[in-house]
Amino acid sequence: MTQDELKALVGQAATAFVEPGSIIGVGTGSTVNCFIDALAQMPVRIKAAVSSSQQSTARMQALGIQVLDANEVESLAVYIDGADEIDHAGCMIKGGGAALTREKIVADISQRFICIVDESKLVTTLGRFPLPVEVIPMAAAQIARRLRKLGGEPVLRAGVVTDNGGQIIDVHGLSIGEPNALEREINQWPGVVSCGIFARNKASVCLLGTAQGVKTLTF
Ligand code: A5P
Repeated sequence: MTQDELKALVGQAATAFVEPGSIIGVGTGSTVNCFIDALAQMPVRIKAAVSSSQQSTARMQALGIQVLDANEVESLAVYIDGADEIDHAGCMIKGGGAALTREKIVADISQRFICIVDESKLVTTLGRFPLPVEVIPMAAAQIARRLRKLGGEPVLRAGVVTDNGGQIIDVHGLSIGEPNALEREINQWPGVVSCGIFARNKASVCLLGTAQGVKTLTF
């Protein structure tokens, strides 16, 4: 199976976690696009979604799915999103699509995070995928210096401005043995909007697309 076929497979599988008539959280990326397409085909529709990006909002609205502001809901039963890497404890690196801050906000409102990925994303230790960090532009140089001290090689993502007006620094060469501790550390630096480690808001379930079908990992 191709990677695109695996993404379509897990996108479809995630609809099993969606209660018809409910309000759900929806992430961002090519795997989530498959999920949104499957969501639009469900015989009984959801009431609405809270979206993590302008990109996902546009796709859902084009398919007739109502999108609500995060401030209009108190809690969501599920948040469905992809990841750039996920480890065997459900901790993730996210932000390859620059939507990490809104993704973390919607994940934080949600009771369960259903992560949908193809099997190439499952790793023993996070860090092979460069860690995205969203920053306030004024603080970019200082944050890059701090990241270098941690042993990483920070690279400013050229030409990218996030939905929040931030910049993205991609940190290469980190081996993230303690995702919780590193997420906490980076998050407290002045000018960091959010860090692409999702350890505090880790996955509850991972639907892993494999050549043998969808495997369900529960954390
Ligand atoms: C978006 O900012 C990311 O966190 C995505 O969830 C992640 O990059 C996965 O994207 P794909 O499904 O396109 O691989």
